[in-house]
Amino acid sequence: MAGCTRYFKFPTLSGEPPVVIAHRGASGYMPEHTLSAYKLAIEQGADFIEPDLVSTNDGVLIARHELNITETTNVAEHPEFADRRTTKVIDGVSVEGWFADDFTLAEIKTLRAKQRLPFRSQQFDDLCEIPTLEEVIELVKQESERSGRVIGIYPETKHPTYHRSAGLPLEKNLVKLLERHKLNHRTAPVMIQSFEAASLKALRRMTEARLVQLIDGNGIAPDGGVIPGKPYDFTVSGDPRTYADLLTREGLAEIKTYADGIGPWKRYLVGVTGTGGVDALANDSHKKLGHPTHMVREAHNAGLFVHAWTFRNEPRYLASDYGSDPLKEYWQFYRLGVDGVFSDFPDTAIAARAALEKRDQVPR
Ligand code: G3P
Ligand code: CA
Repeated sequence: MAGCTRYFKFPTLSGEPPVVIAHRGASGYMPEHTLSAYKLAIEQGADFIEPDLVSTNDGVLIARHELNITETTNVAEHPEFADRRTTKVIDGVSVEGWFADDFTLAEIKTLRAKQRLPFRSQQFDDLCEIPTLEEVIELVKQESERSGRVIGIYPETKHPTYHRSAGLPLEKNLVKLLERHKLNHRTAPVMIQSFEAASLKALRRMTEARLVQLIDGNGIAPDGGVIPGKPYDFTVSGDPRTYADLLTREGLAEIKTYADGIGPWKRYLVGVTGTGGVDALANDSHKKLGHPTHMVREAHNAGLFVHAWTFRNEPRYLASDYGSDPLKEYWQFYRLGVDGVFSDFPDTAIAARAALEKRDQVPR
């Protein structure tokens, strides 16, 4: 009927619309993990911003996706740090470059961030500092006050086993900061994520904030299913299970004992057929979608919410079925009942959510 709008009921665990998590900030537009990338995401309307966390050698948590800062900073252009280039074994893999845990915070602050992906704009390179978690929290507080809406933070403990072995455990420092900013409680706008179950179990003993078990994959099998990865803490402790085992009914029930949700690679929810890289290295544009799995329903049945990653606008990240239209991918996942999406382009994720809410505007 003209003038009437039918509102879509999102099939999420809570019945609320899914949250949009700015993956490393609005990282499709600005160098990832910079205050500018986080601020832009907030201006675009993101519900949460996501800092990945690593530690400096003086124990300060900073926002970086890797300990290896070679690709995302201009450290290679600093001759005074030339002799810090080295090789380390992180999570069983030998990596060469410059590493955050070999620098003090004061030294890190002399570096500037760079765009890692060659097909994204480089125009903001060498401008932005590497932020500390504390600076990210302060930004979020200021922006929440300014905008009158609650913006959340969604930190991830990166390589917790490695950090612990280097004498720089992440969990205690993270909780200390949350405490200092009155964010260490159940209803705080905070969710903490990790690929390592042991990190989350340690956090559960220190905080009531919501925790999220990330679920990784090592690629796509010829039948379109995910080749599961394995939490590195399981490798170290000799636990034979993979992420696929954590997604069984028993595995989900175990996750529920220490976490509130799961954060799976989106291919666990909708597979693709065809080969060619995972996540940021993917080229999905020539792949076809498979049938959606029952993953969301099974997680919801276990009382766990589902925040899927990572959604990106560029055609190379979109299966051919979407015809290069990123909105169509969000609509599929929102209809499946995901409770949140990690997106490099929060504005698109929000536009898709708004359009689906008034579903007359969305084709089936
Ligand atoms: O944390 C969710 C998603 O960000 C996991 O992937 O590698 O981008 O941290 P990554
Ligand atoms: Ca992350």
